[in-house]
Amino acid sequence: MSPSSIIARKRDGHALAREEIIAFVRGATDGSWADYQLGAMLMAVFLRGMNAEETAWYTDAMMRSGTVADLSGIPGLKVDKHSTGGVGDKISLPLAPLVAACGVPVPMISGRGLGFSGGTLDKLESIPGFRTSLSLDEFKAQVARVGCALIGQTRDLAPADRKLYALRDVTATVECVPLICGSILSKKLAEGIDALVLDVKFGRGAFMPNLDSARELASTLVRVGRASGKRVRALLTRMDQPLGRAVGNALEVAESVACLRGAGPSDVMEVTRSLGAQMLVLGGVAPTEFDALARLDAALRSGAAFTKFREIVAAQGGDVRVIDDPGLLPRARLIEPWPAPRTGFVAAVDARAVALAAVRLGAGRTRAEDVIDPAVGIAGLVKVGEHVAAGQPLAEIHANDPAALADARALLAGAFALADSPVSPPPLIAELIAD
Ligand code: URA
Repeated sequence: MSPSSIIARKRDGHALAREEIIAFVRGATDGSWADYQLGAMLMAVFLRGMNAEETAWYTDAMMRSGTVADLSGIPGLKVDKHSTGGVGDKISLPLAPLVAACGVPVPMISGRGLGFSGGTLDKLESIPGFRTSLSLDEFKAQVARVGCALIGQTRDLAPADRKLYALRDVTATVECVPLICGSILSKKLAEGIDALVLDVKFGRGAFMPNLDSARELASTLVRVGRASGKRVRALLTRMDQPLGRAVGNALEVAESVACLRGAGPSDVMEVTRSLGAQMLVLGGVAPTEFDALARLDAALRSGAAFTKFREIVAAQGGDVRVIDDPGLLPRARLIEPWPAPRTGFVAAVDARAVALAAVRLGAGRTRAEDVIDPAVGIAGLVKVGEHVAAGQPLAEIHANDPAALADARALLAGAFALADSPVSPPPLIAELIAD
């Protein structure tokens, strides 16, 4: 079974046997397949696809390419959330402590931002001292003690994905449902979870352009998750305008703290509560979504969710004073309002344009090695449906570099559309896909 014979079979449109898929993933892990062979195989899969069985075998082989954490010693069903990524998507920050405060252990392994989409680790690292690189043993110990840990991918979890994801990035093979499914689920299943809730985003600021493509990805993830013996549910959520009013790392931490204090923007709260309700049901602490929502709201009202976030930050070496007073978070030197050119109703806020402006300011990366500036970004964003008067700010640009500020202005120029008559935003949550 040589690499070229396996590549040829996929190139010619055959379904691969499990052993062939295992050989491919092993080749990516131990270096026995050359990068050009891995690249050719990825392109063959991209063009020919994988059936449900092949996708499940591929995901399983990717998961087993490294350590699979064993969290069975921690009482309760362990539930995580994964988002396919969006603009201003800070949901993990309020969600993880909220769900943990309701008694469901949350072992959460997250990524960094690349391109227009932000990353949970970058946001957390704007909290001075916060360590995202715990060892697997430290991670397990914290989940057992605190009920939640928020860390980055360790070297030993799903190493095949690290290799293949980097190759997909440079071989134009990222947008492929079986490859995305294997990549996302292998990392999540290797965390040792019992259940997973997915936020599959679609629209201008998402990786999936429309509802149909999001539904196809979500259905595959739910089906393959179930084939691996895990409960998986997915919400399909719209990502045409940024989530919340802030895009940028410290700015999003401040907004997350506001959510945990009961003063968050309504769209961030809606997604957080909806994902949280699914997590509590799958975690077995609430019989219905209705009961789950009541528990989540009680944890927000009592301050238990905020206290849990403080505990997580302290456990990971972060300075809790910035959680108590987000005014102490890193702050940009240049803050400039972006005024409305006329009076009207906000008809659109282009998430992608806002994200590109934030990346130019230094809030994100265009290459994996770029360094993030935690303070910069776009804040005070208006939301679709709101009324603005001429001259009133549509947003505030937070910059540390005058040249970047000028570029961000140019990128924001076409981001806002105003209408004369009232505009009602479409529902944020389009569908639930359950197993
Ligand atoms: N996120 C991942 O982790 N992998 C993909 O392939 C796409 C998004």
